[in-house]
Amino acid sequence: MSKPKILLTRHYPQAVIDRARRDYDTVLPDHDISANGDELIAQLQGVDGVVISASNKFTAEVIERLPEQLKIIASFSVGYEHVDIEAAKSKGLVVTNSPDVLNDATADTALLLLLAASRRAREASEMVLRGEWVGWSPTKLLGVQPTGKRLGIIGMGRIGRAMANRCRALGMQIHYHNRSRLSGDLEGDATYHATPNELFKVADFLSIHCEMTPETTKLVNAETIELLPENPVIVNTARGGIVDDDALIAALKSGRVAAAGLDVFDGEPNLNPEYLKIPTAFLLPHIGSATVDTRNAMGFRALDNLDAYFAGKEPGDRLA
Ligand code: 8YV
Repeated sequence: MSKPKILLTRHYPQAVIDRARRDYDTVLPDHDISANGDELIAQLQGVDGVVISASNKFTAEVIERLPEQLKIIASFSVGYEHVDIEAAKSKGLVVTNSPDVLNDATADTALLLLLAASRRAREASEMVLRGEWVGWSPTKLLGVQPTGKRLGIIGMGRIGRAMANRCRALGMQIHYHNRSRLSGDLEGDATYHATPNELFKVADFLSIHCEMTPETTKLVNAETIELLPENPVIVNTARGGIVDDDALIAALKSGRVAAAGLDVFDGEPNLNPEYLKIPTAFLLPHIGSATVDTRNAMGFRALDNLDAYFAGKEPGDRLA
């Protein structure tokens, strides 16, 4: 029996490409297909399954134009706002994501951002790199101490809980909002807040770990920032669109927000250029899951889902 034909839209890690080539008739274009539209549709002709990244936008319009032969879209990502799940369901397409395997790497990045932002790592590093460090000072580059402070986690899923565990080790008090309250064993000593606004009021530090949905779009905005206590630090490793950039930029400039650590941006990679001018904004280029082990595991998880589907079984991470 001939192997199913799959397209890899990106140059995923070599171990993932090797496994795909071993088990499938694999199409790997010589360049990344990162945009939506015509090129994606053209590359998908004659293909049974596809491994996509979050930069491949499968809107209802794109899904409508997909060739009938395509049966499964396996996303190399936990987030899936780039695929219109309802449109995929109506077309009879199977869609999967790659959760779990990136929990630790993403929480590590959130912790990195929390510490870097609160300890003013960008300003400190730039001072050294520019040769402007003239010696130790008792009052230079003083940051915000996390010990004993309240960390507000928006979205207490697997990544949010991994972040909570890391921050317990810093001596922080964990507060969270989630669509539903966690069971006692998952909640532990964390304090639940039934609404995001109640959480904002106590979040000395705020870390965003929720999905991007119509409800969470621009959840961090001029009004909700005003609810935060004095000198808050904001961390985002989820999706840029959850933050209203204009509001956060204004709050960083005025000092209402002490610092922000951001790995994701609305419209990335074209982030709002104002962020580049703000020394208290510690910025990373969406590297939340970027470790060798994690990226391999994400690719293997996407392939596991394809393997199950083509073996006539239910894929483990089915969204549609
Ligand atoms: C991915 C992510 O690297 O999994 C996600 O949702 O945001 C990142 O970890 C990226 O989306 C690749 O598709």
